[in-house]
Amino acid sequence: SQDGLKICCIGAGYVGGPTMSMIALKCPEVQVKIVDISAARIDAWNSDNLPIYEPGLHKVVTACRGKNLFFSTDIDEAIQEADIIFVAVNTPTKKVGIGAGRASDLTYWELAARRIAQVAETPKIVVEKSTVPIKTAEAISAVLHGAGKTRFDVLSNPEFLAEGTAITDLDNPDRVLIGGQLDESGQKAMDTLADVYAHWVPRDRILLTNVWSSELSKLVANSFLAQRVSSINAISAVCEASGADVDEVARAVGMDTRIGPKFLKASVGFGGSCFQKDILNLVYLCESFGLPEVAHYFHQVVHMNDYQKERFVGRIIHGLYNTVTGKKIALLGFAFKKDTGDTRESASIDVCRRLIEEKAQVAIYDPKVEEEQVWMDLTYACKMDKTEVQKYVTLCPDALTACKDAHAMAVATEWDEFKELDFHQVYDTMTKPSFVFDGRNILDHATLREIGFVVYAIGKPLDPKLSTA
Ligand code: NAI
Repeated sequence: SQDGLKICCIGAGYVGGPTMSMIALKCPEVQVKIVDISAARIDAWNSDNLPIYEPGLHKVVTACRGKNLFFSTDIDEAIQEADIIFVAVNTPTKKVGIGAGRASDLTYWELAARRIAQVAETPKIVVEKSTVPIKTAEAISAVLHGAGKTRFDVLSNPEFLAEGTAITDLDNPDRVLIGGQLDESGQKAMDTLADVYAHWVPRDRILLTNVWSSELSKLVANSFLAQRVSSINAISAVCEASGADVDEVARAVGMDTRIGPKFLKASVGFGGSCFQKDILNLVYLCESFGLPEVAHYFHQVVHMNDYQKERFVGRIIHGLYNTVTGKKIALLGFAFKKDTGDTRESASIDVCRRLIEEKAQVAIYDPKVEEEQVWMDLTYACKMDKTEVQKYVTLCPDALTACKDAHAMAVATEWDEFKELDFHQVYDTMTKPSFVFDGRNILDHATLREIGFVVYAIGKPLDPKLSTA
C-alpha cells in the first residue's frame, strides 16, 4: 500500500488527463492532482463536459473526481505537497530557430521544471511523461539541481497510449517503461513509481531501464509504428498500378508471425500529434549525432506520408475530370482517427487545404470535432483568415447534408457511423456521376458500385469508370 502518497501532474491534456485518472482509479489510497496553466481546461475537467473525448474516460473521471482525483490551477501548491511530479506538457516541433521543423520545442517543459525548482521544498521524484528527445532528463536534472533547494530524482516514463483507445490501453498496457539513474537513490525512485503501476499492471510488464534507453525507446516505437503505415501505403500505390489488392497483400504478409497483422491498414495517411513529431525528432537527433544515413532513412517515412495524402487528392482531381473548381466535395471526418475529437496533424487538414487550393467547395462533417477547431486548423494550414476559408468550406451537422448535391464524397476518418449511412439516399441527393473516394477502405465498395457510384479505394483495383488521366 502507498497510503498517503501524493502525486501531481503538470499538464491536463490528452496524456495527463487519462493517465492520471487511471492511476487515481487503481490506487484509491493515493491522492492525484492534475494542474494546468489553462484555467479553461481545468474548468472543463471539473465540469460534465470534459475537454477531450475518449471512450470510457468520463466514467473513470466521475468515479474518482473529488475523492482522490483533483483538477486545479494552483500549480505551486500541488508541487509543494507532491511526492511524485509527472510532467505531461506539450512538446511540439520547434517552429523557429535552430532545428526548426524537426527538433522538439522544450519551452513548456523547461518552464515547468523551473517552476518545480522554485517552489519545491522537500525531495521530489520528477517524471518525464511527455515525449522528449534523449538526454532531456539530464538537462532537466541540471535545471532542477542548479536552481532548486532540495533533491530531485528524474525518471523517464514515456506514455504508449493511443488516442481513441486510451482507457483500455492504460487499463491493460503492453508494458510500462521506467528509466532512471542506476544509483541507490534512482533505484529507490524507480521502485516507488513501479509500485504505483503494480497496483494493476503485472510486474513482468513493468520494465526498468536506464534513462536514455527509455527516452529513445519511445521515439523508436512511434517511428516503427509510423514506418509500418508508410510501408503499406507505399505498397498501396503499387497495388493500384498492378491490379493487386492491398488488403489481400496485408493479410498474406501479416500472417507471417515475424511480421504480425497489426498496423498494416492502408489509408490516406497517418496523423496525430505524435508520429510525425517523434520521427522528425529522431531524424534531428541522428543528424546531430552525425548519422545522416540513419536520419535520411527515417525521414522517408514522413515523405511517404505526404506523398500518400497528395496521391489521394490527385485521385479526386483526376477522377473529377481534372478539375474540382466550384465543385462540391463532401469531406467525411476531420479527426485524425476515429473515436477522438483530436485533429492535430490530421490527414483531413491537408486534403482540405489542397481542395481549397483547387477552389473546390468543401462540405465537412465530423461527429466529434468542434467547429472552432476546424476553422483554427484551416486558417493556419491555408494561411487565410476565417472569412476567406469560409468562401470554400461549410461545416455540416451530418453526413447526408454534406453529401447533398456533392460531386464526390471523400472519407478521411474511419468513423463507424460512415459505414451505416443509407447510401441509396446519399446517391439520390448527389450530383451525377457520383463519386466516392474511400481514404480508409471502410465502405462496401461492391454495393456502392451496384447503387451506381464510381468508387476509388486505396490500394484496390481501379474502377474502370474512374478517370486517371
Ligand atoms: P496537450 O497539448 O493535450 O496537453 C498539454 C497540456 O500542458 C496543455 O493543457 C497545456 O496547457 C499544459 N501546459 C503547458 N505548459 C505548462 C506549464 N508550464 N504548466 C502547466 N501546464 C502546462 O498534449 P498531449 O497530447 O497530452 O501530449 C503531452 C505529451 O505527451 C507530449 O510530449 C506528447 O508527445 C506525449 N504523448 C502524447 C500522446 C497522445 O496520444 N497525445 C501519446 C503519448 C505521448
